[in-house]
Amino acid sequence: MTSELFRHLPEETLTRIPNRPLGRFSDFVVAELPASLTAIRKGRSDYSNLNELSHELIEGLTPDVMATATATQDNADLALLDLLIMDNALVRTTGPNPKLTALVDSLAAANDRPPIITYEDVVLTNPLYTDCRLHTNEEIGLSERDFYIAHREIEGDLDVLIDTSKEVIYILKQDDLNTIGNVAEMLHTAGLRWVDINARMELLWKAMPKEHFITIRDYFLSHPIRTTPDGEKYKGPSGAFTAKIPVFEILFAGETMKPEQFHYFKDNEMYFPRKGREEIQDALQYLEEGSTLTQLASLLGNPPILKTELDQFDHYLNQFRGMHYAGIKHQIPGAVEGNVSGSAGEVKVGQFLKGRMIKHTS
Ligand code: HEM
Repeated sequence: MTSELFRHLPEETLTRIPNRPLGRFSDFVVAELPASLTAIRKGRSDYSNLNELSHELIEGLTPDVMATATATQDNADLALLDLLIMDNALVRTTGPNPKLTALVDSLAAANDRPPIITYEDVVLTNPLYTDCRLHTNEEIGLSERDFYIAHREIEGDLDVLIDTSKEVIYILKQDDLNTIGNVAEMLHTAGLRWVDINARMELLWKAMPKEHFITIRDYFLSHPIRTTPDGEKYKGPSGAFTAKIPVFEILFAGETMKPEQFHYFKDNEMYFPRKGREEIQDALQYLEEGSTLTQLASLLGNPPILKTELDQFDHYLNQFRGMHYAGIKHQIPGAVEGNVSGSAGEVKVGQFLKGRMIKHTS
């Protein structure tokens, strides 16, 4: 699967199964908006076309249309993604549309999430394999899609690592040294998922064309108009808001993590996926009970066969962070040097990233 990324298979080779909760509005967002934004970016069109069309489509979003579109949670999430993509496009071109702003506000509030496009929207809600939502088209659109798919696939691999870590924790808590061989094997097999994760990170660094990422990234920057109730700019979507890396890290060796990392989850909770917020709380419970993998291994006297696998986890996680750092250095020139801020709003990006590169095992 990894090898499929950034091979730039043409759109016709992808099977589309339309999923359009807002009817004509969703059709436009999926099939026409990316081309319209490209035309504006390339100076082939002014804003007036998009302004007129979007106005007409937004007027079509009657209370009846909205009620039907949001009847189930999945549809409500996808409908909101469509509204947010349109909003993201308008505020960066023609300016905000008050009716759209109001619709986004009420749907976001009803769904316990901020009224801006999030990591959860583009990576998890987005029907990436069947009816993907994008801001760009043609070659750049294919890169945008693969960028999201790489994140989604990494989430899937981390789920396996998280589930296995929890199973191993359960077994280790039985305090039976006879099971150590088995759990070491379980950790070893799950650990191989990191090889795929890191291969994807390497593709994002080396195979995703830099000039494509520059264009895509414009749509991830913090919302130019909306502010939080505290008057701050809303942060844009960023991998910094995946719950899976912190959940894995806490279950693995949460006691070695720095206090600022825990403050980060608390201060930025609204930007994390809704299910992920619960997963982080659940992982913190393990830490509170002294039941991380490294804590339990230490209680068992750090058997070498277990230590080898935990050292390997540490190696993989730091390898990911090293590659991630290099990827950012390449894709966002000036970011790690502190001259350009990240889409999650970090100003001292290099310092922030290096602060997370810690040794988890001794
Ligand atoms: C070329 C691809 C990528 C770029 C350019 C990138 C960029 C960044 C930037 C600039 C930050 C600093 C926070 C901010 O946005 O202000 C960050 C943090 C972070 N990103 Fe990425 N990222 C990429 C891929 C990924 C992937 C694939 C993941 C995995 C899901 C990920 C997970 C994280 C995490 C967990 C953090 C917080 C720091 C840490 O725990 O190490 N990123 N990223």
